[in-house]
Amino acid sequence: MIKVALLSRPGLMDPMKALLARELPGVAVASWPEPAALEAELAVCWKPEPGALASMRRLRLIHSIAAGVDNILSDATVPDVPLCRIVDPDITAAMTEFVLWSTLYFHRDFDRVISNARDGLWQRYDQRAAKDSRVGILGLGELGTDAARRLVQLGFTVSAWSRSPKQLADVRTFSGAEALDAFLSETDILVSLLPLTPSTVGLLNAARLSRLPKGAALILCSRGEHVVMDDLIALLGGGHLRGAVLDVFEHEPLPAEHPLWREPGVLVTPHMAAIASWETITLQVAENARRLLSGRPLLNVVDRARGY
Ligand SMILES: NC(=O)c1ccc[n+]([C@@H]2O[C@H](COP(=O)([O-])OP(=O)(O)OC[C@H]3O[C@@H](n4cnc5c(N)ncnc54)[C@H](OP(=O)(O)O)[C@@H]3O)[C@@H](O)[C@H]2O)c1
Repeated sequence: MIKVALLSRPGLMDPMKALLARELPGVAVASWPEPAALEAELAVCWKPEPGALASMRRLRLIHSIAAGVDNILSDATVPDVPLCRIVDPDITAAMTEFVLWSTLYFHRDFDRVISNARDGLWQRYDQRAAKDSRVGILGLGELGTDAARRLVQLGFTVSAWSRSPKQLADVRTFSGAEALDAFLSETDILVSLLPLTPSTVGLLNAARLSRLPKGAALILCSRGEHVVMDDLIALLGGGHLRGAVLDVFEHEPLPAEHPLWREPGVLVTPHMAAIASWETITLQVAENARRLLSGRPLLNVVDRARGY
């Protein structure tokens, strides 16, 4: 039976041990850096130590426990074996809930009334119809597509930006770097659902965020590194941007003393937009393990050249 190594900070993946034993009878599971982990054919990872995967000579498959694989590909020594990620309807639904909530938070002025409530200030704002809020989604993949569809159902004016051209009913689509400024200039609520790759790191800098219309808001559900945080803070402080819901950060957890917690207009959430359960992760990892052993095509394989 297959040998599996779990690579993460100590203890994080321990709940998978019993679940893998249930799904793959006879499986041998070792946690990095136990010596047996070096012999594994399948590595299941969250932020593996740089160089660890390269030292596993029998490695045949690397599996992320998340939708993103930036936590693995940031190590340039990762061996050239198939890399798979988690794609799951429950994760997609959870992300869509988060995007819908955050969109409504700005669209229905909850950001303002929650702030006013702290001062006992009774103030109403002019209501806008959903169609009058233009929601722009960066990334039209598994997550972006579902969020876009549901926003359309609620009546929002929705556009989306992807690398390659895409078509989606009632969504205005843009593709490629050359179309980004036009997309941003027509977006009141910007939702980031991009993967973190060399092409997307630092994408939302002062120049790009300034393309958003005055009063626009940001919903960051992808990775902290997509945004140049100092640029975002400057644009919030200067009044060009109205606010931001930030779920992800370059360094997590965000330290209690970090100024973003107290930045006016910013709501920090603890990387909670869409979290896969250990059950879901294990079922997908086990299915790919069975496929690997029987030579069948793997599910949710990442394109290493694209980086997502
Ligand atoms: N906060 C959380 O709890 C949480 C949970 C799950 C996932 N996430 C994040 O969400 C990300 C997206 O997940 P997903 O499953 O939707 O990914 P996906 O299916 O791989 O879709 C990625 C989308 O981004 C587009 N894209 C990639 N590089 C681009 C570029 N350089 N320029 C323009 N568009 C680009 C792709 O364009 P094409 O369609 O042309 O390929 C695709 O539409 C993950 O990578 C992860 O970082 C966060």
